Amino acid sequence: MSIHIKEEPMTEYRVGAEWWRSAVIYQIYPRSFADANGDGIGDLVGISSKIPYLSSLGIDAIWLSPFYRSPQMDAGYDVADYCDVDPLFGRLDDFDRMLEQAHEKGIKVIIDLVPNHTSSAHSWFQSALKTPVGSAERNRYLFSDGKGENGEFPPNKWQSVFGGDAWSRIPGETQWYLHLFDSSQPDLNWECPEVRAEFEDILRFWLKRGVDGFRVDVAHSLVKVPGLPDWESEDPEESAMNVGPMWDQEGVHDIYRSWNKVLKEFAGDRMLVAEAWVQPQSRLARYVRSDEMHQAFNFDYLLTHWDARALREVIDTSMAAAAHVGAPTTWVMSNHDTVRHTSRYGLSNPGTRPRGIDASREQPDEALGLRRARAAALLTHALPGSAYIYQGEELGLPEHTTLDAAHRQDPRFFRTNGEEVGRDGCRVPIPWVSGEASYGFSTAGESWLPQPESFAQYSADVQQGNPQSTLELYRQLLQLRREYGLGSGSLTWLPSAQGVLLFDNGPIRIVINLTDMATALPDGQLLISSEPINQPYVLPANAAAWLR
Ligand code: GLC
Repeated sequence: MSIHIKEEPMTEYRVGAEWWRSAVIYQIYPRSFADANGDGIGDLVGISSKIPYLSSLGIDAIWLSPFYRSPQMDAGYDVADYCDVDPLFGRLDDFDRMLEQAHEKGIKVIIDLVPNHTSSAHSWFQSALKTPVGSAERNRYLFSDGKGENGEFPPNKWQSVFGGDAWSRIPGETQWYLHLFDSSQPDLNWECPEVRAEFEDILRFWLKRGVDGFRVDVAHSLVKVPGLPDWESEDPEESAMNVGPMWDQEGVHDIYRSWNKVLKEFAGDRMLVAEAWVQPQSRLARYVRSDEMHQAFNFDYLLTHWDARALREVIDTSMAAAAHVGAPTTWVMSNHDTVRHTSRYGLSNPGTRPRGIDASREQPDEALGLRRARAAALLTHALPGSAYIYQGEELGLPEHTTLDAAHRQDPRFFRTNGEEVGRDGCRVPIPWVSGEASYGFSTAGESWLPQPESFAQYSADVQQGNPQSTLELYRQLLQLRREYGLGSGSLTWLPSAQGVLLFDNGPIRIVINLTDMATALPDGQLLISSEPINQPYVLPANAAAWLR
Protein backbone atom coordinates (compact mmCIF):
# COMPACT_ATOMS: atom_id res chain seq x y z
CA MET A 1 0.00 0.00 0.00
CA SER A 2 1.49 3.32 -0.93
CA ILE A 3 1.10 6.46 1.08
CA HIS A 4 0.36 9.67 -0.70
CA ILE A 5 2.32 12.40 0.97
CA LYS A 6 0.73 15.78 0.63
CA GLU A 7 3.13 18.52 1.61
CA GLU A 8 1.65 21.09 3.95
CA PRO A 9 1.74 24.65 2.66
CA MET A 10 4.56 26.60 4.29
CA THR A 11 3.04 28.93 6.87
CA GLU A 12 4.70 31.57 8.96
CA TYR A 13 4.48 30.37 12.54
CA ARG A 14 5.13 32.48 15.52
CA VAL A 15 7.07 30.07 17.64
CA GLY A 16 6.08 30.77 21.21
CA ALA A 17 7.90 30.21 24.44
CA GLU A 18 5.70 27.36 25.65
CA TRP A 19 7.53 25.18 28.18
CA TRP A 20 7.16 21.98 26.14
CA ARG A 21 9.15 23.32 23.19
CA SER A 22 12.45 22.78 24.98
CA ALA A 23 11.46 20.64 27.98
CA VAL A 24 13.36 17.66 29.31
CA ILE A 25 10.65 15.12 30.06
CA TYR A 26 11.30 12.11 32.28
CA GLN A 27 9.22 8.99 31.68
CA ILE A 28 8.09 7.18 34.80
CA TYR A 29 6.88 3.63 34.40
CA PRO A 30 4.96 3.60 37.70
CA ARG A 31 5.07 -0.14 38.40
CA SER A 32 8.88 -0.11 38.24
CA PHE A 33 9.84 3.23 39.72
CA ALA A 34 9.44 3.12 43.50
CA ASP A 35 7.30 0.90 45.71
CA ALA A 36 6.13 2.56 48.92
CA ASN A 37 3.60 -0.04 50.11
CA GLY A 38 5.86 -3.07 49.86
CA ASP A 39 3.88 -5.19 47.37
CA GLY A 40 6.74 -5.29 44.86
CA ILE A 41 4.95 -2.97 42.43
CA GLY A 42 5.74 0.74 42.25
CA ASP A 43 3.03 3.22 43.24
CA LEU A 44 2.07 6.88 43.36
CA VAL A 45 3.31 7.41 46.92
CA GLY A 46 6.62 5.95 45.75
CA ILE A 47 6.74 8.52 42.94
CA SER A 48 6.04 11.31 45.44
CA SER A 49 8.94 10.12 47.56
CA LYS A 50 11.30 10.55 44.60
CA ILE A 51 10.28 14.07 43.64
CA PRO A 52 13.32 15.59 45.39
CA TYR A 53 15.51 13.22 43.32
CA LEU A 54 13.75 14.25 40.09
CA SER A 55 14.05 17.88 41.00
CA SER A 56 17.78 17.57 41.63
CA LEU A 57 18.18 15.82 38.28
CA GLY A 58 17.01 19.04 36.64
CA ILE A 59 14.10 17.81 34.51
CA ASP A 60 11.14 19.98 33.52
CA ALA A 61 8.34 17.42 33.45
CA ILE A 62 7.42 13.83 34.13
CA TRP A 63 5.27 11.59 31.97
CA LEU A 64 3.55 8.75 33.81
CA SER A 65 2.65 5.54 32.01
CA PRO A 66 -0.88 4.34 32.94
CA PHE A 67 -1.89 4.00 36.60
CA TYR A 68 -5.65 3.68 35.97
CA ARG A 69 -7.95 0.85 37.00
CA SER A 70 -6.92 -2.09 34.91
CA PRO A 71 -6.63 -5.87 35.01
CA GLN A 72 -2.97 -5.27 33.99
CA MET A 73 -3.04 -7.63 31.04
CA ASP A 74 -0.76 -5.18 29.20
CA ALA A 75 0.76 -3.49 32.23
CA GLY A 76 -2.03 -0.94 32.49
CA TYR A 77 -2.41 -0.14 28.77
CA ASP A 78 -5.68 -2.03 29.16
CA VAL A 79 -7.78 0.53 30.96
CA ALA A 80 -11.01 -0.45 32.73
CA ASP A 81 -11.72 2.98 34.24
CA TYR A 82 -10.03 6.07 32.83
CA CYS A 83 -10.99 8.28 35.75
CA ASP A 84 -9.75 6.26 38.68
CA VAL A 85 -6.45 4.99 40.04
CA ASP A 86 -5.87 1.24 40.23
CA PRO A 87 -5.54 0.12 43.87
CA LEU A 88 -2.14 -1.32 42.88
CA PHE A 89 -0.88 2.25 42.51
CA GLY A 90 -2.91 3.98 45.21
CA ARG A 91 -5.93 6.26 45.14
CA LEU A 92 -7.00 9.44 43.42
CA ASP A 93 -5.89 11.55 46.36
CA ASP A 94 -2.41 9.99 46.14
CA PHE A 95 -2.37 11.22 42.56
CA ASP A 96 -3.48 14.70 43.61
CA ARG A 97 -0.78 14.86 46.27
CA MET A 98 1.88 13.67 43.86
CA LEU A 99 0.77 16.30 41.32
CA GLU A 100 0.86 19.01 43.94
CA GLN A 101 4.32 18.02 45.13
CA ALA A 102 5.64 17.94 41.56
CA HIS A 103 4.15 21.35 40.83
CA GLU A 104 5.65 22.77 44.01
CA LYS A 105 9.06 21.83 42.62
CA GLY A 106 8.21 23.34 39.25
CA ILE A 107 7.83 19.93 37.59
CA LYS A 108 4.98 19.55 35.07
CA VAL A 109 3.03 16.30 34.92
CA ILE A 110 1.93 14.52 31.75
CA ILE A 111 -0.25 11.42 31.95
CA ASP A 112 -0.90 8.62 29.48
CA LEU A 113 -4.16 8.45 27.56
CA VAL A 114 -5.09 5.17 25.88
CA PRO A 115 -7.82 5.92 23.32
CA ASN A 116 -7.42 3.15 20.73
CA HIS A 117 -8.81 0.44 22.98
CA THR A 118 -10.23 -0.14 26.43
CA SER A 119 -9.74 -3.18 28.61
CA SER A 120 -12.21 -5.98 27.98
CA ALA A 121 -13.09 -5.46 31.66
CA HIS A 122 -14.32 -1.91 30.89
CA SER A 123 -18.04 -1.55 31.64
CA TRP A 124 -18.65 -0.56 28.01
CA PHE A 125 -17.23 -3.80 26.66
CA GLN A 126 -18.97 -5.86 29.30
CA SER A 127 -22.34 -4.35 28.37
CA ALA A 128 -21.57 -4.80 24.67
CA LEU A 129 -21.19 -8.51 25.31
CA LYS A 130 -24.58 -8.60 26.99
CA THR A 131 -26.47 -6.77 24.25
CA PRO A 132 -27.50 -8.07 20.83
CA VAL A 133 -25.73 -7.59 17.52
CA GLY A 134 -26.31 -4.09 16.19
CA SER A 135 -26.96 -2.52 19.61
CA ALA A 136 -25.69 0.93 20.55
CA GLU A 137 -23.46 -0.78 23.12
CA ARG A 138 -21.76 -2.87 20.44
CA ASN A 139 -21.37 0.14 18.19
CA ARG A 140 -18.77 1.58 20.57
CA TYR A 141 -16.38 -1.19 19.49
CA LEU A 142 -15.50 -2.85 16.20
CA PHE A 143 -17.65 -5.97 16.10
CA SER A 144 -18.04 -7.76 12.81
CA ASP A 145 -19.46 -11.01 11.48
CA GLY A 146 -16.93 -13.73 10.86
CA LYS A 147 -16.40 -15.32 7.44
CA GLY A 148 -17.41 -18.87 6.55
CA GLU A 149 -20.76 -20.59 6.78
CA ASN A 150 -21.04 -20.17 10.53
CA GLY A 151 -18.80 -17.16 10.95
CA GLU A 152 -15.97 -19.44 12.02
CA PHE A 153 -13.22 -17.41 10.33
CA PRO A 154 -12.09 -13.90 11.32
CA PRO A 155 -13.67 -11.01 9.35
CA ASN A 156 -10.30 -10.13 7.76
CA LYS A 157 -6.62 -11.03 7.88
CA TRP A 158 -5.42 -8.26 10.15
CA GLN A 159 -2.72 -9.30 12.58
CA SER A 160 -2.28 -8.13 16.15
CA VAL A 161 0.83 -6.03 16.84
CA PHE A 162 1.54 -8.53 19.61
CA GLY A 163 1.26 -11.51 17.24
CA GLY A 164 -1.63 -13.73 16.09
CA ASP A 165 -5.02 -12.67 14.74
CA ALA A 166 -6.31 -9.19 15.48
CA TRP A 167 -9.79 -10.69 15.97
CA SER A 168 -11.39 -12.78 18.71
CA ARG A 169 -14.71 -14.53 18.42
CA ILE A 170 -17.50 -14.08 20.93
CA PRO A 171 -18.25 -17.60 22.19
CA GLY A 172 -21.46 -18.99 20.66
CA GLU A 173 -21.79 -16.17 18.15
CA THR A 174 -20.88 -15.38 14.55
CA GLN A 175 -19.48 -12.05 15.76
CA TRP A 176 -15.85 -11.21 16.35
CA TYR A 177 -14.25 -8.08 17.81
CA LEU A 178 -11.12 -6.30 16.64
CA HIS A 179 -8.07 -5.91 18.87
CA LEU A 180 -4.94 -4.52 17.27
CA PHE A 181 -3.13 -5.50 20.47
CA ASP A 182 -4.03 -8.18 23.03
CA SER A 183 -7.45 -9.86 23.03
CA SER A 184 -8.01 -8.09 26.38
CA GLN A 185 -7.75 -4.74 24.53
CA PRO A 186 -10.81 -4.36 22.23
CA ASP A 187 -10.48 -1.48 19.76
CA LEU A 188 -12.96 1.35 20.13
CA ASN A 189 -15.08 2.56 17.21
CA TRP A 190 -14.04 6.18 16.73
CA GLU A 191 -16.86 6.72 14.23
CA CYS A 192 -19.23 6.52 17.20
CA PRO A 193 -19.97 10.03 18.58
CA GLU A 194 -20.36 8.68 22.08
CA VAL A 195 -16.74 7.48 22.07
CA ARG A 196 -15.55 10.91 20.97
CA ALA A 197 -17.60 12.68 23.64
CA GLU A 198 -16.42 10.29 26.35
CA PHE A 199 -12.74 10.94 25.65
CA GLU A 200 -13.23 14.70 25.66
CA ASP A 201 -14.75 14.28 29.11
CA ILE A 202 -11.81 12.12 30.23
CA LEU A 203 -9.43 14.86 29.09
CA ARG A 204 -11.44 17.44 31.06
CA PHE A 205 -11.50 15.23 34.15
CA TRP A 206 -7.70 15.22 34.34
CA LEU A 207 -7.19 18.77 33.10
CA LYS A 208 -9.41 19.96 35.93
CA ARG A 209 -7.23 18.06 38.38
CA GLY A 210 -4.30 20.05 37.03
CA VAL A 211 -2.34 17.79 34.68
CA ASP A 212 -0.15 19.61 32.17
CA GLY A 213 -0.61 17.25 29.26
CA PHE A 214 -1.22 13.82 27.81
CA ARG A 215 0.91 11.28 26.04
CA VAL A 216 -1.45 9.75 23.48
CA ASP A 217 -1.01 6.00 23.10
CA VAL A 218 -0.88 4.65 19.50
CA ALA A 219 -2.17 8.00 18.27
CA HIS A 220 -2.06 6.84 14.63
CA SER A 221 -4.50 3.93 15.01
CA LEU A 222 -7.82 5.34 16.16
CA VAL A 223 -9.45 5.62 12.75
CA LYS A 224 -9.52 2.67 10.36
CA VAL A 225 -10.38 2.56 6.65
CA PRO A 226 -14.19 2.14 6.48
CA GLY A 227 -15.28 -1.44 5.94
CA LEU A 228 -11.98 -2.70 7.42
CA PRO A 229 -10.65 -3.98 4.07
CA ASP A 230 -8.52 -7.07 4.01
CA TRP A 231 -4.81 -6.44 4.31
CA GLU A 232 -1.78 -8.56 4.89
CA SER A 233 1.84 -7.58 5.09
CA GLU A 234 4.86 -9.65 4.21
CA ASP A 235 7.04 -7.38 6.25
CA PRO A 236 6.80 -7.91 10.00
CA GLU A 237 8.14 -4.41 10.66
CA GLU A 238 5.38 -3.00 8.52
CA SER A 239 2.60 -4.92 10.19
CA ALA A 240 4.12 -3.88 13.49
CA MET A 241 2.74 -0.40 13.27
CA ASN A 242 3.39 1.46 10.08
CA VAL A 243 1.51 0.84 6.91
CA GLY A 244 -1.99 -0.53 6.40
CA PRO A 245 -5.66 0.43 6.64
CA MET A 246 -5.46 0.59 10.42
CA TRP A 247 -2.65 3.12 10.70
CA ASP A 248 -2.24 6.84 10.08
CA GLN A 249 -5.61 7.54 8.46
CA GLU A 250 -6.63 11.10 7.65
CA GLY A 251 -9.55 10.96 10.10
CA VAL A 252 -7.34 10.85 13.20
CA HIS A 253 -6.43 14.48 12.70
CA ASP A 254 -10.00 15.67 13.31
CA ILE A 255 -9.86 14.01 16.71
CA TYR A 256 -6.67 15.86 17.66
CA ARG A 257 -8.08 19.15 16.41
CA SER A 258 -11.00 18.70 18.77
CA TRP A 259 -8.70 17.77 21.66
CA ASN A 260 -6.58 20.82 20.97
CA LYS A 261 -9.73 22.88 21.56
CA VAL A 262 -10.50 21.03 24.78
CA LEU A 263 -7.01 21.84 26.10
CA LYS A 264 -7.55 25.50 25.26
CA GLU A 265 -10.55 25.59 27.61
CA PHE A 266 -7.96 25.45 30.40
CA ALA A 267 -5.38 27.99 31.44
CA GLY A 268 -1.66 27.27 31.06
CA ASP A 269 0.21 25.63 28.21
CA ARG A 270 -1.31 22.15 28.33
CA MET A 271 0.08 19.77 25.75
CA LEU A 272 -0.42 16.54 23.80
CA VAL A 273 2.41 14.29 22.70
CA ALA A 274 1.78 11.65 20.05
CA GLU A 275 3.03 8.10 20.16
CA ALA A 276 2.74 7.58 16.41
CA TRP A 277 5.02 5.09 14.67
CA VAL A 278 4.64 6.66 11.24
CA GLN A 279 7.12 7.37 8.54
CA PRO A 280 8.46 9.46 6.93
CA GLN A 281 9.01 12.44 9.24
CA SER A 282 6.86 14.66 7.01
CA ARG A 283 3.96 12.33 7.79
CA LEU A 284 4.69 12.49 11.53
CA ALA A 285 4.80 16.29 11.39
CA ARG A 286 1.12 16.30 10.42
CA TYR A 287 0.28 15.27 14.01
CA VAL A 288 1.90 18.44 15.35
CA ARG A 289 0.36 21.03 13.07
CA SER A 290 -0.50 24.13 15.08
CA ASP A 291 -4.14 23.14 15.70
CA GLU A 292 -3.43 19.50 16.65
CA MET A 293 -0.91 18.01 19.05
CA HIS A 294 2.21 19.72 20.33
CA GLN A 295 4.92 17.08 20.16
CA ALA A 296 5.41 13.63 18.64
CA PHE A 297 8.01 11.11 19.73
CA ASN A 298 10.87 10.99 17.26
CA PHE A 299 11.18 7.22 16.84
CA ASP A 300 13.42 7.60 13.79
CA TYR A 301 16.00 9.04 16.15
CA LEU A 302 15.44 6.22 18.64
CA LEU A 303 15.90 3.62 15.91
CA THR A 304 19.05 5.14 14.43
CA HIS A 305 22.14 3.17 15.19
CA TRP A 306 25.58 4.33 16.29
CA ASP A 307 26.54 5.88 12.97
CA ALA A 308 27.49 9.53 12.44
CA ARG A 309 26.08 9.88 8.95
CA ALA A 310 22.77 8.22 9.79
CA LEU A 311 22.36 10.31 12.93
CA ARG A 312 23.11 13.55 11.14
CA GLU A 313 20.59 12.68 8.48
CA VAL A 314 17.83 11.87 10.96
CA ILE A 315 18.57 15.01 12.96
CA ASP A 316 18.33 17.17 9.84
CA THR A 317 15.22 15.48 8.49
CA SER A 318 13.32 15.56 11.74
CA MET A 319 14.20 19.17 12.51
CA ALA A 320 13.17 20.28 9.03
CA ALA A 321 9.89 18.35 9.12
CA ALA A 322 8.91 19.75 12.51
CA ALA A 323 9.98 23.30 11.63
CA HIS A 324 7.75 23.09 8.57
CA VAL A 325 4.72 23.05 10.88
CA GLY A 326 6.17 25.25 13.62
CA ALA A 327 6.57 22.40 16.14
CA PRO A 328 9.62 21.43 18.20
CA THR A 329 11.41 18.15 17.51
CA THR A 330 11.73 15.56 20.24
CA TRP A 331 14.77 13.41 20.98
CA VAL A 332 14.09 9.99 22.44
CA MET A 333 16.49 7.08 22.92
CA SER A 334 14.56 4.61 25.07
CA ASN A 335 11.13 3.89 26.49
CA HIS A 336 9.15 1.04 28.04
CA ASP A 337 8.63 -0.64 24.63
CA THR A 338 12.20 -0.83 23.34
CA VAL A 339 15.48 -2.44 24.40
CA ARG A 340 17.32 0.13 26.52
CA HIS A 341 19.76 2.06 24.32
CA THR A 342 22.68 1.31 26.63
CA SER A 343 22.26 -2.33 25.61
CA ARG A 344 21.38 -1.67 21.95
CA TYR A 345 24.61 0.27 21.51
CA GLY A 346 26.53 -2.70 22.88
CA LEU A 347 25.30 -5.13 20.20
CA SER A 348 27.52 -6.02 17.26
CA ASN A 349 24.90 -4.62 14.93
CA PRO A 350 23.22 -1.87 16.89
CA GLY A 351 21.19 -1.04 13.80
CA THR A 352 18.77 -3.87 14.38
CA ARG A 353 15.63 -3.25 16.37
CA PRO A 354 15.78 -6.16 18.76
CA ARG A 355 12.42 -7.14 20.18
CA GLY A 356 13.84 -8.04 23.55
CA ILE A 357 16.98 -9.99 24.42
CA ASP A 358 17.19 -13.24 26.36
CA ALA A 359 20.05 -15.51 27.41
CA SER A 360 19.90 -17.44 24.10
CA ARG A 361 20.64 -14.32 22.04
CA GLU A 362 23.73 -12.19 21.52
CA GLN A 363 24.62 -10.49 24.81
CA PRO A 364 25.51 -6.80 24.53
CA ASP A 365 28.99 -5.53 25.39
CA GLU A 366 27.90 -3.69 28.52
CA ALA A 367 30.94 -1.42 28.88
CA LEU A 368 30.89 -0.35 25.23
CA GLY A 369 27.14 0.21 25.32
CA LEU A 370 27.40 2.41 28.40
CA ARG A 371 30.27 4.39 26.92
CA ARG A 372 28.25 5.09 23.79
CA ALA A 373 25.11 5.83 25.76
CA ARG A 374 26.97 8.47 27.77
CA ALA A 375 28.25 10.05 24.57
CA ALA A 376 24.74 9.85 23.08
CA ALA A 377 23.42 11.77 26.10
CA LEU A 378 25.77 14.62 25.18
CA LEU A 379 24.34 14.58 21.67
CA THR A 380 20.67 14.35 22.69
CA HIS A 381 20.76 17.11 25.27
CA ALA A 382 22.66 19.47 23.00
CA LEU A 383 19.99 19.37 20.30
CA PRO A 384 17.31 22.07 20.04
CA GLY A 385 13.84 20.80 20.93
CA SER A 386 12.44 18.66 23.72
CA ALA A 387 14.34 15.66 25.10
CA TYR A 388 12.98 12.56 26.79
CA ILE A 389 14.67 10.43 29.45
CA TYR A 390 13.37 6.95 30.27
CA GLN A 391 13.62 6.17 33.99
CA GLY A 392 16.98 4.60 34.82
CA GLU A 393 18.62 5.96 31.69
CA GLU A 394 20.27 8.60 33.89
CA LEU A 395 21.85 5.72 35.83
CA GLY A 396 23.18 4.14 32.63
CA LEU A 397 20.93 1.16 33.35
CA PRO A 398 21.20 -1.73 30.91
CA GLU A 399 18.41 -4.01 29.72
CA HIS A 400 17.91 -7.20 31.74
CA THR A 401 19.09 -9.53 28.99
CA THR A 402 18.90 -12.88 30.79
CA LEU A 403 15.47 -12.73 32.37
CA ASP A 404 14.02 -16.20 32.71
CA ALA A 405 10.94 -17.07 30.64
CA ALA A 406 9.11 -17.99 33.85
CA HIS A 407 9.14 -14.31 34.89
CA ARG A 408 7.95 -12.86 31.61
CA GLN A 409 4.70 -10.92 31.62
CA ASP A 410 4.58 -9.10 28.29
CA PRO A 411 1.62 -10.30 26.16
CA ARG A 412 3.92 -10.07 23.15
CA PHE A 413 5.95 -12.99 24.55
CA PHE A 414 2.85 -15.16 24.98
CA ARG A 415 1.12 -14.23 21.73
CA THR A 416 4.24 -15.15 19.73
CA ASN A 417 4.77 -18.34 21.72
CA GLY A 418 8.02 -16.98 23.06
CA GLU A 419 9.43 -16.25 19.60
CA GLU A 420 9.59 -12.60 20.54
CA VAL A 421 11.12 -12.11 23.95
CA GLY A 422 9.07 -8.98 24.58
CA ARG A 423 9.56 -5.85 26.60
CA ASP A 424 10.01 -7.01 30.19
CA GLY A 425 13.79 -6.53 30.05
CA CYS A 426 13.49 -2.74 29.90
CA ARG A 427 10.81 -2.64 32.61
CA VAL A 428 12.82 -4.05 35.51
CA PRO A 429 12.46 -2.01 38.74
CA ILE A 430 14.95 0.78 39.39
CA PRO A 431 17.88 0.20 41.77
CA TRP A 432 18.00 3.00 44.32
CA VAL A 433 20.18 1.59 47.11
CA SER A 434 22.91 -0.95 46.31
CA GLY A 435 23.04 -2.81 49.62
CA GLU A 436 19.31 -3.36 50.12
CA ALA A 437 16.94 -6.11 49.02
CA SER A 438 15.37 -5.18 45.64
CA TYR A 439 18.09 -2.51 45.60
CA GLY A 440 15.85 -0.23 47.60
CA PHE A 441 13.02 -0.34 45.02
CA SER A 442 10.48 -1.63 47.51
CA THR A 443 10.07 -0.97 51.21
CA ALA A 444 9.59 -4.74 51.65
CA GLY A 445 12.44 -5.77 49.36
CA GLU A 446 10.03 -7.20 46.77
CA SER A 447 10.18 -6.72 43.02
CA TRP A 448 7.59 -7.78 40.42
CA LEU A 449 10.43 -8.65 38.03
CA PRO A 450 13.78 -9.91 39.33
CA GLN A 451 16.63 -7.43 38.98
CA PRO A 452 20.00 -8.62 37.65
CA GLU A 453 22.93 -8.58 40.08
CA SER A 454 24.71 -5.98 37.99
CA PHE A 455 22.08 -3.45 39.15
CA ALA A 456 24.05 -3.05 42.42
CA GLN A 457 26.72 -1.06 40.62
CA TYR A 458 24.12 1.12 38.88
CA SER A 459 22.21 2.03 42.04
CA ALA A 460 21.50 5.71 42.51
CA ASP A 461 23.19 5.83 45.94
CA VAL A 462 26.48 4.53 44.50
CA GLN A 463 26.46 7.17 41.78
CA GLN A 464 25.25 10.09 43.85
CA GLY A 465 28.09 12.60 44.32
CA ASN A 466 30.57 10.64 42.21
CA PRO A 467 31.60 13.05 39.43
CA GLN A 468 32.47 10.14 37.09
CA SER A 469 29.03 8.57 37.39
CA THR A 470 26.33 8.63 34.73
CA LEU A 471 23.88 10.18 37.19
CA GLU A 472 26.17 13.15 37.83
CA LEU A 473 26.87 13.39 34.09
CA TYR A 474 23.12 13.78 33.46
CA ARG A 475 22.76 16.33 36.25
CA GLN A 476 25.56 18.46 34.86
CA LEU A 477 24.27 18.10 31.31
CA LEU A 478 20.77 19.24 32.20
CA GLN A 479 22.13 22.16 34.16
CA LEU A 480 24.34 23.30 31.29
CA ARG A 481 21.55 22.75 28.78
CA ARG A 482 19.35 25.07 30.81
CA GLU A 483 22.10 27.62 31.45
CA TYR A 484 22.89 27.97 27.75
CA GLY A 485 19.31 27.63 26.52
CA LEU A 486 20.26 24.75 24.20
CA GLY A 487 16.69 23.40 24.00
CA SER A 488 15.56 26.62 22.36
CA GLY A 489 18.81 27.22 20.50
CA SER A 490 19.75 26.38 16.94
CA LEU A 491 22.13 23.95 15.34
CA THR A 492 24.95 24.75 12.91
CA TRP A 493 26.96 21.84 11.54
CA LEU A 494 30.69 22.26 11.16
CA PRO A 495 33.03 20.26 8.93
CA SER A 496 34.31 17.19 10.75
CA ALA A 497 36.31 14.00 10.32
CA GLN A 498 34.52 10.86 9.20
CA GLY A 499 32.51 9.28 11.98
CA VAL A 500 32.53 12.48 14.01
CA LEU A 501 29.67 14.94 14.51
CA LEU A 502 30.61 18.55 15.15
CA PHE A 503 28.16 21.40 15.61
CA ASP A 504 27.48 24.62 17.42
CA ASN A 505 24.40 25.47 19.43
CA GLY A 506 24.74 29.12 20.52
CA PRO A 507 28.08 29.56 22.29
CA ILE A 508 28.52 25.81 22.79
CA ARG A 509 30.51 23.57 20.48
CA ILE A 510 29.56 19.90 20.57
CA VAL A 511 31.71 17.05 19.33
CA ILE A 512 30.68 13.39 19.23
CA ASN A 513 33.20 10.75 18.24
CA LEU A 514 31.27 7.71 17.03
CA THR A 515 34.40 5.85 15.91
CA ASP A 516 36.54 3.33 17.76
CA MET A 517 39.60 5.57 17.51
CA ALA A 518 40.57 8.78 19.28
CA THR A 519 40.00 11.99 17.36
CA ALA A 520 40.93 15.66 17.66
CA LEU A 521 39.22 17.62 20.39
CA PRO A 522 38.52 21.14 19.13
CA ASP A 523 39.90 24.22 20.81
CA GLY A 524 37.90 25.80 23.61
CA GLN A 525 37.09 25.61 27.27
CA LEU A 526 35.96 22.08 28.11
CA LEU A 527 32.58 22.17 29.86
CA ILE A 528 31.78 18.49 30.06
CA SER A 529 32.88 15.22 28.50
CA SER A 530 31.44 11.72 28.53
CA GLU A 531 34.89 10.20 29.24
CA PRO A 532 37.87 11.73 31.05
CA ILE A 533 40.09 13.78 28.73
CA ASN A 534 43.57 12.64 29.70
CA GLN A 535 45.50 14.06 26.79
CA PRO A 536 45.14 17.63 25.60
CA TYR A 537 43.22 18.02 22.32
CA VAL A 538 42.36 14.32 22.18
CA LEU A 539 38.80 13.03 22.35
CA PRO A 540 38.80 9.27 23.07
CA ALA A 541 36.86 6.70 21.01
CA ASN A 542 33.07 6.58 21.46
CA ALA A 543 33.06 9.75 23.50
CA ALA A 544 31.69 13.28 23.33
CA ALA A 545 32.41 16.73 24.72
CA TRP A 546 30.88 20.19 25.05
CA LEU A 547 33.19 23.17 24.75
CA ARG A 548 32.77 26.90 25.00
C1 GLC B 1 1.73 1.58 23.08
C2 GLC B 1 2.35 1.44 24.46
C3 GLC B 1 2.60 -0.02 24.71
C4 GLC B 1 1.27 -0.74 24.69
C5 GLC B 1 0.53 -0.49 23.38
C6 GLC B 1 -0.91 -0.88 23.49
O1 GLC B 1 2.58 1.21 22.07
O2 GLC B 1 3.51 2.21 24.55
O3 GLC B 1 3.27 -0.26 25.90
O4 GLC B 1 1.48 -2.12 24.82
O5 GLC B 1 0.53 0.88 23.05
O6 GLC B 1 -1.60 0.00 24.31
